Amino acid sequence: MKLLITGASGLLGINLAFEAMREHEVVGVDRGTLKSAPFQVVQAELTQKDAIDSLIESTRPDALIHCAALANLEQCEADPLWAKILNTDLPGELGIACTKRDIRFVHISTDAVFDGTKEDFYTEEDEPSPPGVYSQTKLDAEYAVQEVNPRAIIARVNFYGWSLGGYRSLGEFFVNNLREGKSVNGFTDVIFCPMLVNDTARLLLEMLTRDLSGLYHVVGAHAMSKYQFGVEIARRFGLRENLIVPKSVEGSGLTAKRSHNLWLSTHKLSTDLGRETPIFSTGLDEFYTQFQQGYPQKIRGYQH
Ligand SMILES: NC(=O)c1ccc[n+]([C@@H]2O[C@H](COP(=O)([O-])OP(=O)(O)OC[C@H]3O[C@@H](n4cnc5c(N)ncnc54)[C@H](OP(=O)(O)O)[C@@H]3O)[C@@H](O)[C@H]2O)c1
Repeated sequence: MKLLITGASGLLGINLAFEAMREHEVVGVDRGTLKSAPFQVVQAELTQKDAIDSLIESTRPDALIHCAALANLEQCEADPLWAKILNTDLPGELGIACTKRDIRFVHISTDAVFDGTKEDFYTEEDEPSPPGVYSQTKLDAEYAVQEVNPRAIIARVNFYGWSLGGYRSLGEFFVNNLREGKSVNGFTDVIFCPMLVNDTARLLLEMLTRDLSGLYHVVGAHAMSKYQFGVEIARRFGLRENLIVPKSVEGSGLTAKRSHNLWLSTHKLSTDLGRETPIFSTGLDEFYTQFQQGYPQKIRGYQH
């Protein structure tokens, strides 16, 4: 397949491009951040008039995986209009463009569409209740994409991994700080389901090749607090877990409201794939092996 990946300089986009390159032809879209990437790169400011049509016409992909977004919660709160343009309007327009040309469309959504008040896991059947601008604009995109492109895959994700800038993911946050001997806070009252971004990428590609469509939770199979996640990383990397201070997210100074419970069930995905999704410890092992093998430096080397 020929795959067009937006947000190719982002945490998901770059790792997805690397995973996809093994079996597919990849064209990544960026805005001038990437240098000497081992896949074809085209530059586009996706919100510009005619950018989508000219991008698709010039590349003619079989599938488009839309990873670009305004994924910073605080920036979304500060500029709700820009958040809507990027996170809601753009996916809707891409969905239409793909429907018109019979191109498969994969839209990346978020686990954060839930307010976290449920005392159990969330399934795809649960009614979303977004707690802030970011999550509201992402949920609106799910509805927009479903309406214009019913065949699309909509994946609610949560991932960690190595990024171009070296600081994008929570996994990097813990590794970077603990390696420098710095003390960090770990939230004990935010439950989530982290997945290694490379596992997320491989699952998305499998979902595409298996011709799935519709809404899926594509998150880790194990729920844990952000504090526990930090401790797991410290142990795997042989770093000092007592540098992680257990704290509540309340009073942390973050402006965007965080949900306390983002435990999402992946039952639908594992049922439709006919196998279990990757477990947390194998992802963490791979994250550590990547570190040992210089993968973080390799990725950072593709940044201008
Ligand atoms: N990180 C997580 O754990 C997480 C959790 C839930 C959902 N998600 C979702 O997963 C997807 C990928 O997230 P991520 O963490 O990989 O994001 P990221 O690292 O912040 O990357 C965002 C990407 O979007 C690109 N972009 C932003 N505005 C653009 C524009 N106007 N035109 C073209 N490209 C633009 C950025 O390009 P530049 O480099 O040029 O800025 C960058 O490549 C997003 O949909 C996000 O909402 C992520």
